[in-house]
Amino acid sequence: MYIFIRYVFFQYNCSTIVMAMNKRILVTGHLPEVIMAELEKAFHVDANIEDKPFERQKLLHAIKDKDGLISMITDNVDEEVFDRASRLKMMAHFGVGYNNIDIKAATTHGIAVSNTPGVLTDATAELAFALILAVARRVVECDRATREGRFRYWAPMLFLGREVTGKTLGIIGLGEIGKAVARIAKGFKMRILYNNRSRIEASKEKELMAEYADLQKLLVDSDFVSLHVPLTGETRHLIGKEEFSRMKPTAYLINTSRGPVVDEQALFEALLNRKIGGAGLDVYENEPALTPGLRELSNVVLLPHTGSGTLETRIKMASMAVENLIAGLSGKVPPNLVNPEVLQHSCLNK
Ligand code: DGY
Repeated sequence: MYIFIRYVFFQYNCSTIVMAMNKRILVTGHLPEVIMAELEKAFHVDANIEDKPFERQKLLHAIKDKDGLISMITDNVDEEVFDRASRLKMMAHFGVGYNNIDIKAATTHGIAVSNTPGVLTDATAELAFALILAVARRVVECDRATREGRFRYWAPMLFLGREVTGKTLGIIGLGEIGKAVARIAKGFKMRILYNNRSRIEASKEKELMAEYADLQKLLVDSDFVSLHVPLTGETRHLIGKEEFSRMKPTAYLINTSRGPVVDEQALFEALLNRKIGGAGLDVYENEPALTPGLRELSNVVLLPHTGSGTLETRIKMASMAVENLIAGLSGKVPPNLVNPEVLQHSCLNK
């Protein structure tokens, strides 16, 4: 891993780094030390070193004299921020989803924005599958009962869960993470249905053993429905009361994408009234707040948005953000640019 980080810095070494030397950057989250140490060699760094979101007022103040920004998913980077950021040229987002950034405003201000695709695919897919197993086999409930001294004897009907092997998994959004979930599911001999904006090639479907289904069929047939779509105007509340009414009463909803893709109040009611079997959630509609009552339910597993939260992945995400930042600040096109339209407004080499 260290070698990979050195490689990133080596690639952009010498003249590039020297060019970047006098640049001032803001890092709004606490990144792995090995990355911070390298950043400090190349830039004047102002960083949030606390393991909590950077306060809005601090962001508005700190951005004023910065050339570059490494942002977190907890920052609301909107027009007001860009208005203050008169020197800002490059914003490297530490995350794949960038629904917290006003991309249009960034482009108008001539600011290049990048993200971190690919490197968090496996970590997020692993966590989605961990949630599938946890809800179906009641792992968290059983752990709690055992800790509380409620495991007093073995009995045939004690804490019965549901088998995962051989069941039907409906994947909504077959991008990289959705595909990685499908690959894991194959090992559990699951039937895989998927719904996506566009159908994937037949050879890919065959390789993943995934069948295309319209949303209605997917909801009706699946034992597990796992969400892997980005948050957009189209996907907000994609799953709500009507969708829950179509799901099997034994089915589980898994969400590791973005909270607002699900109408959380409708989910709470579906869980409370046992319209569905359960849910495994890593993300919430008004994160970090939870819909009142949700935490009291036993048929839901709740995680604190840790989809990409492995040391290996966070180091890769940080290295990728740094690589993009260095490219953008040295006049090159960042490899993971999300707003290519900015090239018309900026002086980056095309
Ligand atoms: C992302 O990258 O979008 C994740 O949600 C952050 O872990």
